[in-house]
Amino acid sequence: MTFKEDGAIAIAALESFAARAIAGEGPVINQPRIDELARRLDLDRLMTEGGLTGETLRLFLDTYLAASTRLHHPAYMAHQVAVPLATSAIAALVDGFTNNAMAIYEMGPAAATVERAVIDWMLRKIGWVPEPAQRVTDRSQASGGGVLTHGGSLANLTALLAARARIAPDAWENGTPEGLVIVATAGSHYSVARAAGIMGLGQKAVRHAPTDALGRIDPTKLPAFLASLRREGVTPFAVVANACATALGLYDPLREIAQVCRAECVWLHIDGAHGASALVSPKLRHLLDGVELADSLIWDAHKMLRTSILCAAVLVRDRRDLDQAFREEASYLFHDKDQPGIDFIHRTVECTKSALGLKVFCALASGGEGAIAAGIERQTELAHEAASLLRAEPGIEVAVEPQSNIVCFRLDGPDDLQIELRRRLTEAGDFYISTTEAMGRRWLRLALMNPATGLADVEHLVASLREHLAGTLTDDIG
Ligand SMILES: Cc1ncc(COP(=O)(O)O)c(C=O)c1O
Repeated sequence: MTFKEDGAIAIAALESFAARAIAGEGPVINQPRIDELARRLDLDRLMTEGGLTGETLRLFLDTYLAASTRLHHPAYMAHQVAVPLATSAIAALVDGFTNNAMAIYEMGPAAATVERAVIDWMLRKIGWVPEPAQRVTDRSQASGGGVLTHGGSLANLTALLAARARIAPDAWENGTPEGLVIVATAGSHYSVARAAGIMGLGQKAVRHAPTDALGRIDPTKLPAFLASLRREGVTPFAVVANACATALGLYDPLREIAQVCRAECVWLHIDGAHGASALVSPKLRHLLDGVELADSLIWDAHKMLRTSILCAAVLVRDRRDLDQAFREEASYLFHDKDQPGIDFIHRTVECTKSALGLKVFCALASGGEGAIAAGIERQTELAHEAASLLRAEPGIEVAVEPQSNIVCFRLDGPDDLQIELRRRLTEAGDFYISTTEAMGRRWLRLALMNPATGLADVEHLVASLREHLAGTLTDDIG
C-alpha cells in the first residue's frame, strides 16, 4: 500500500467518524478499560509483527475511532478544545510528513515564514507593532514580538520567564533571586502556579490578588495589595490577569488593571489562552479593552481559533523582553551563518518545534478571519441562550451571565450531587460536560466549542440530567 492509498483509508475513516458524530450517532464519550482496549486494538501483535496497512489499517482505525472521544458530536460540551477545522488537520498532516523542525530557519523556512505571519497577525489584533523584518540584526528598534509554543501552559511559563528577565536580568546565570512573587487569582489556570514551581519560585510565590465575588481582580484594591506585599519584604514582579478565566469564563477588567501595573512598574501578563480569540471579533473585542497596555499575553489557537492541538502564542509588547528570557550555547545550532530568516529557537523552551503556525494559518485561511469571528460570536450567543434556558428551569441555578462560551450551573443539592450527575452522564455517554469549583461551590460546566451544538442539545441535556437526578433519588431510597 502507498501513502496515498493508506491516506485515503485514513481520510475516509475520519470523514465518516466526523459525519456520524455530527449526526449525533454513537456515544460522545466511551471509556473502555485500558487493558481491554489495548487487546481490541491488537497493539502488542502489531508492534511486534507490523503490517498496519490496507485492510488492517482500516480495521485498526475503526476500533481506534470507536474508542475516541467525539468532539464533533453536538453533545460534546466539556473542555476548551476546538473541534478543528479540516484545513487545520490537513496542516497537521503536512507538518507530520515534512517534519520540518522549524525552530531554526534552515530546518523549515516555509514553516517559520508562516509562523511569523501568524504572530504578526496576532500582534496587530492586540494593537502592538509587528517586528521589523530584520529583527536579528536590529535590536534597537522597539516592537512587539512572539513565538508559538506547544500549548498555553508552556506559553504562560515563557511569558513569566520574560517578566523575570526584566526584573532580574541576571537570573538566567545566577538563579531566581529571593522574594520574587507573582500576583494571580485563585481562579488562575494551574499552569501559572506550575510556572512558579518550574522557575524555582515555589508555588507559594503565587499570591492571590483581591477579587470581586466572581473571582475577577479588583483593580481598586490592587495598589494596596501590592504595597502590602512590599511591606512584607517580597517583590511582586508580575500580575497575571485572566481573559478569560477557566472556570466561569469571565474577563478581568484589563484596562484598570493595566493602569495600576503601569503606575506600580509591575509587568502585566494576560492569560488569554481561551478568551484572546475575542480580539478577532469586532463585536466581542471590547471584552479585552485595554489589552494593548499589557506587557505579555498568551493566546491558544487550539481553543477558539479552530486549530488542532497543540498551538499557543506568547506575545510581548517589547520583543527584547522575550529575547532575554532564554540564553544558551549550542555550538551545533548557534553560530555565525547566513540568516535569510528567523530562528525562533531563542524564544522557546522547545528545541525541536512543529510547524504550529501552519495549523493556525490554515484555520484562518479556510474561511478568512471573518468566518472565525462569526464562529466565536455564534458560540458566545449560544452560551447566553443556554444560560437563559437554564435559568428558566426550576431547581437550576446559573452561576453568572456568561461573557464567553462557558456556562456554569447547578441543580439544587450539594456539591457531591453535581459530581455524581456528571459521572452518570459520562457513564451513559449521551453527554460530555465538565464540572468546576467557583465561588466556593461546585458547578456543572459547559464549554460550548462545537458549531454543531444547538440550544436543543442543551434542552436534551437538561432532560437527561433530570432523569439522572431521579436515578440518584431512587438509588438512595433503594
Ligand atoms: C486560562 C487558561 N490558561 C492556560 C491554559 C492551559 O493551556 P494548555 O491546555 O494549552 O496548556 C488553559 C487551558 O484550558 C486555560 O483555560
